[in-house]
Amino acid sequence: MKFKTINIESIPSTNQYLFNLISEKEMSEGLVINTDNQTAGKGMGKNIWESEKGKNLSFSLLLKPDFLKPEKQFVITQIISLAILNVCRKNLNSEKVCIKWPNDIYVADKKIAGVLVQNIIKANSISDSVIGIGLNVNQEKFISDAPNPVSMIQLAGVNFSIEKLLNELLDEIERNYSRLRVYPHTSWLNSKYVENLYRINQSYYFTDKNGRFKGEIIGIDNYGQLKIKKSNGEILIYAYKEVEFEL
Ligand code: BTN
Repeated sequence: MKFKTINIESIPSTNQYLFNLISEKEMSEGLVINTDNQTAGKGMGKNIWESEKGKNLSFSLLLKPDFLKPEKQFVITQIISLAILNVCRKNLNSEKVCIKWPNDIYVADKKIAGVLVQNIIKANSISDSVIGIGLNVNQEKFISDAPNPVSMIQLAGVNFSIEKLLNELLDEIERNYSRLRVYPHTSWLNSKYVENLYRINQSYYFTDKNGRFKGEIIGIDNYGQLKIKKSNGEILIYAYKEVEFEL
């Protein structure tokens, strides 16, 4: 895949921009919309994504994984989360980087990156996948009410090159994506993803529609839903937003 990066000085949301482009005309796989100043970044659900001008990595990438059936959408989240995990681990030289299900990247108990995947399904396959990535790099103060943001500079005490991080991330995504094409049976991906999950196999409190309970994350099902074993042995399965972690 060839990446083509378009840098836009200031833009409300790279995901929205890329979405508008593809709804106007067919765009090639590998198109990247990158900005230094995202003024109305979108998070998952109704969240906003804070990013100080010139300090962070905010971009969206177009993939066209038409070899994937809609029920396999979660593999995109997996290859992207693992790519960010590796780049953060390498640059921070830290084993504390992990994936908070479904697709937040955490260092210890703080969030360093977020991913917003928006797919278009056509003829029972994924025709377009708009993948937005926000990585906190050189921002030292966060002003939104996001509960636990952290940046690379806060952790390492030095500035990082945003351009270099973008290139490293794209390389890593390409590697995982080409592997996915060749090995679409995703057991290699599932085990890598699960072993790097935040709080895997450890007992913590969660909250679901029935209230607070103690349990242990034991993995994910075939659709990427989270499996938690309660302390009484019962196994519960959750879709996004159906369960909250107690931080
Ligand atoms: C989340 O953690 O809730 C997801 C955050 C995703 C933020 C990125 S920044 C680049 C891209 N453009 C957006 O508007 N959002 C994503």
